[in-house]
Amino acid sequence: MKLQVKKLADIDVRNKKVFIRADLNVPQDEAGNITEDTRIRASVPTIRHCLDQGAAVMVTSHLGRPSEGKITPEDTLAPVAVRLGQLLGQPVKLIANWVDGGFTVEPGQIVLLENCRCNVGEKKDDEALAKKMAALCDIYVNDAFGTAHRAEATTHGIARFAPAACAGFLMSAEIDALSRALGNPKRPLVAIVGGAKVSSKLVILKSLAERVDQLIVGGGIANTFLLASGKRIGESLAEPDLVKEAHAVMDMMRARGAEVPLPTDVVVADEVSALARANKVPIDEVGPHDRILDIGPKSAAYLANIVANAGTIVWNGPVGVFEHPQFAGGTKMLASAIAHSQAFSIAGGGDTLAAIAKFDIANDVGYISTGGGAFLEFLEGKTLPAIAALEARSNK
Ligand code: 3PG
Repeated sequence: MKLQVKKLADIDVRNKKVFIRADLNVPQDEAGNITEDTRIRASVPTIRHCLDQGAAVMVTSHLGRPSEGKITPEDTLAPVAVRLGQLLGQPVKLIANWVDGGFTVEPGQIVLLENCRCNVGEKKDDEALAKKMAALCDIYVNDAFGTAHRAEATTHGIARFAPAACAGFLMSAEIDALSRALGNPKRPLVAIVGGAKVSSKLVILKSLAERVDQLIVGGGIANTFLLASGKRIGESLAEPDLVKEAHAVMDMMRARGAEVPLPTDVVVADEVSALARANKVPIDEVGPHDRILDIGPKSAAYLANIVANAGTIVWNGPVGVFEHPQFAGGTKMLASAIAHSQAFSIAGGGDTLAAIAKFDIANDVGYISTGGGAFLEFLEGKTLPAIAALEARSNK
């Protein structure tokens, strides 16, 4: 899997008008304060490079999922403009109603173009809108990996009509890391897929079952696999109607001499709460009213050993309800094994990033993706429309 896209580093942006599509979709509290700014920070290197090279820089992003045709106070990128200005150490002017131009930006300066998802036609990838936006620039840079799974006017259409189109540093890094992990990985390739439901990750599980050597499942997903292997899981979260699908995944893996290692011991309680009393039991002793809320210490040690001997690790989703300390042991042990492993590791998805932050291993993971849905769709083996649009412009 080698994706061919033109890269920003190979393009001369001096005195050029550069339109950067970033993903600055960051969480805010009710007062509009940014509560987590990773995506803004991750977008800075591309912007900094263009400014330092003497480009006139326009940046835009979506924020939330607004209605097109109006901007309500929740939709505005104003707080993002302030934060970006602090990180860049220079003013970032916010421009409203920018699609038809009518604003100026000098070389070495930056403007932030108001929430692009408020423009009529953005979500439908409207061609007329894409052409207008393309006319604003000499070079289109897509750095919005987090939105690469959307074919919208700023992520897809504009790439067709801009005089030149390339991937920014963040987009390039994401593509390189994911391609390295899934394209030609160092073996054994181990995937950890946790989360509540098989149904939401079924395509990923099947796609990974075709290429990984060990598929570690966790959370409600593991419970459905345990059911499929004939275990009693009491009142644990599971999807009995997907037992057949779980079987299919295990069969696919077995046919290739690969494995889905299932827990042999688990942590159970009768409720999910901070006060719940947790019991560690062998898998064959789960009671009729028990809920499995984590893997047990023996299973965690077994899986940690698999991770320790991996060549490449792909991680999406915790293996227990790690928000509560009594159910955090399994995820903590796996996180620590990933942190200490010599393998190249890549992690993504909201819960996974929360676990990485909680167990403080961010510096020890090979690559942490800024993508949520985009990361998952890449794992599903899908072609992401924004990347496909850049590939189509790789030679022109
Ligand atoms: C995300 O938060 O995952 C990205 O910014 C994409 O947002 P979307 O799902 O609203 O397109």
